Amino acid sequence: MRILLDPRRPATPGGRLTVAALVDLYAPPPRRRWVRSNMVATVDGSAVGADGRSGSVNTPADNRVFAILRDHADAVVAGAGTMRDEGYRRIEPTRRSPVPATLVAVTRSGKVPEGLRTPTAGRGPALLVTCDAAGTRALNRARSVLGAESVLVCGDDRVDLALALDLLADRGLRHVLVEGGPSLLGTALAAGVVDELATTVAPVVVGGNGRRIVTGAPLAPPAGVAVRPHLMLEESGTVLALWRVRR
Ligand SMILES: NC(=O)c1ccc[n+]([C@@H]2O[C@H](COP(=O)([O-])OP(=O)(O)OC[C@H]3O[C@@H](n4cnc5c(N)ncnc54)[C@H](OP(=O)(O)O)[C@@H]3O)[C@@H](O)[C@H]2O)c1
Repeated sequence: MRILLDPRRPATPGGRLTVAALVDLYAPPPRRRWVRSNMVATVDGSAVGADGRSGSVNTPADNRVFAILRDHADAVVAGAGTMRDEGYRRIEPTRRSPVPATLVAVTRSGKVPEGLRTPTAGRGPALLVTCDAAGTRALNRARSVLGAESVLVCGDDRVDLALALDLLADRGLRHVLVEGGPSLLGTALAAGVVDELATTVAPVVVGGNGRRIVTGAPLAPPAGVAVRPHLMLEESGTVLALWRVRR
């Protein structure tokens, strides 16, 4: 993997990266709360391949950075749709991160995604973040599956993401990785809670009508949410970047 842009080390464009240097480049600011997203898209802007999943457009470089971002996170947050579609399971420990991140599902319906249900030996804990709209029955069911302390009710009709992140921080989960999907990322950007977007452009063109990596209502019309490049890397045609949200 080679550096295309690294504002911290302007003399290094073209430099080759060791794994340790790559891990270091993706480290979140150590003493701050930090929310970053991670999404992959094709050159023609699709968030999914022909099978309707993002897994079919991943590349080895993207997979490596995906793992590094998880290792840096205290909590991995995803919408219930992504957890269902991509078959999410609780996070496994790794050599770099022997204490696995907490997996957090965001859901309005309050339905517990299958992969969160059973604690598996060695894997990390799971939380469900939902709202009053889920209703008493769904909330009671979720509490009986996960335990009352693992079900956070944040907001009335929709999940209040700012409140949810405050509650995660109260539990020591300060470095948060949002892995999508596009609906959740849209609402997170609209709520102004995202500090940084990690993006991967996979060197493939898929056509079709696949969704983009952010969907939902237009963001901050008419101009959108402004971001600035913080890091850009390339390997075998895959272009990976970190974009910081301008405040
Ligand atoms: N390219 C990528 O990097 C990438 C990453 C992730 C996913 N994907 C793809 O994206 C597709 C799924 O897209 P999606 O937009 O449906 O995913 P999503 O945002 O993960 O799921 C939508 C569901 O999540 C819950 N949800 C999301 N935001 C919420 C909010 N603010 N408040 C309350 N609940 C919320 C709701 O669950 P309930 O229905 O339970 O209420 C909603 O129906 C899949 O095909 C997946 O493969 C691509």
